[in-house]
Amino acid sequence: MKKLKIVTIGGGSSYTPELVEGFIKRHKELPVSELWLVDIEEGKHKLEIVGAMAERMVKAAGIDCEVHLTLDRREALKDADFVTIQLRVGLLDARVLDERIPLSHGLIGQETNGAGGIFKALRTVPVILDIVEDMKELCPNAWLINFTNPAGMVTEAVLRYGNWNKVVGLCNIPVNAVFEESELLGEKPKDLFFQFAGINHLHWHTVVDKDGQDRTDELIKKMYGGSESTTIVANIKDNDLIFEQVENLHMMPCPYHNYYYYTDKMLAEELEDFKNNGTRAEKVKIIEEELFELYKDPKLDYKPQQLAERGGARYSDAACEIINSIHNDKRTTMTVSTRNNGTITDLPDDSAVEVTCMITGKGPIPYNFGSFKPQERGLLQLMKSMELLTVEAAVTGDKGTLLQAFTMNPLITSGDVAKEVMEELLEAHKSYLPQFFK
Ligand code: G6P
Repeated sequence: MKKLKIVTIGGGSSYTPELVEGFIKRHKELPVSELWLVDIEEGKHKLEIVGAMAERMVKAAGIDCEVHLTLDRREALKDADFVTIQLRVGLLDARVLDERIPLSHGLIGQETNGAGGIFKALRTVPVILDIVEDMKELCPNAWLINFTNPAGMVTEAVLRYGNWNKVVGLCNIPVNAVFEESELLGEKPKDLFFQFAGINHLHWHTVVDKDGQDRTDELIKKMYGGSESTTIVANIKDNDLIFEQVENLHMMPCPYHNYYYYTDKMLAEELEDFKNNGTRAEKVKIIEEELFELYKDPKLDYKPQQLAERGGARYSDAACEIINSIHNDKRTTMTVSTRNNGTITDLPDDSAVEVTCMITGKGPIPYNFGSFKPQERGLLQLMKSMELLTVEAAVTGDKGTLLQAFTMNPLITSGDVAKEVMEELLEAHKSYLPQFFK
């Protein structure tokens, strides 16, 4: 069986133990013989802690896998089979600014949505495109599995500007939905077929059982029809959407729809939270500190339960399953960001969409979806256009294009405020955005 070399860029992340656990669990089918964890100088301390923990986990599992820690990305990439990316340009301090600056102007402050999400894309896209250039030279046959946010825009950039087709964008929202919602329906995930369509953090889905019964309306009633609120991710509060509206969609929205369907309420809650506890990024810093304290324990050789407090739980395990499916041509059904190719007729063929796919040895093959009804189509097309402008601005550094993305984004309300927030964020992130300061 061919031994595999996996490279994880952003290896010092607190999510890494989940990735290692995922590889250990699958070792019989997926013989990873080298795992290279790569980070930058600023992340060295975390890389050493989490790297030592990864080594302990591998040793405890008794599998034949070498863990390498390095700050030299090019050394790691040489002859890699799969490259996973989970980096954060500017670390959590940059996320604090992405969230705090819009909130200080009375706008949603969120890491993947609104003004903050746009700026995360501007910082991230050039770095990912650089990695792609290295991959072309050092591991031209490798697959790139990206779960760096904003995952949809990153996939868009890799396909459109990186001219690299072997890319899969991954998010945990569909993964979590399949788990939690199967339970709500009293079924096992393997007995249900979930079909997702849309773009990252803005998709809808339906669910059919093994007898061919559409269970979506039942799920909508269970999720939104009662007095109890439910949520499927740790970083977004309860789903409390207006029942009549969701019922009328006959499709399940995702947790991020709260920001668009209920902007005022989400904003009021965020502002309250911001006043009392600061931003989500500041909370994440505390969770991270606790996690790294645990990871330092030389006796800890398994993924601690506390990792579930992070919104991205189950990401890394899903990444391992994608790698497994591609390597073994398993044809597993999973929802990922990939090229549209006519799957959703409302969006350009060459753009990235997040859809349910069969993951084959040749990568994801989307299940055909077709066209949305006007109630979904309008928002979807608006947001895809906003993404295209953001990615273009990230590559060109053109402020006019960026301002178009800002004014188009439904979470950034007025023209003047949009420009003010944009200028403030540009200044705050100047050192990571050389393309705008040539
Ligand atoms: C959700 C999203 C992820 C995001 C995460 C943030 O699960 O799907 O894209 O990364 O939340 O979680 P955090 O714990 O960093 O706020």
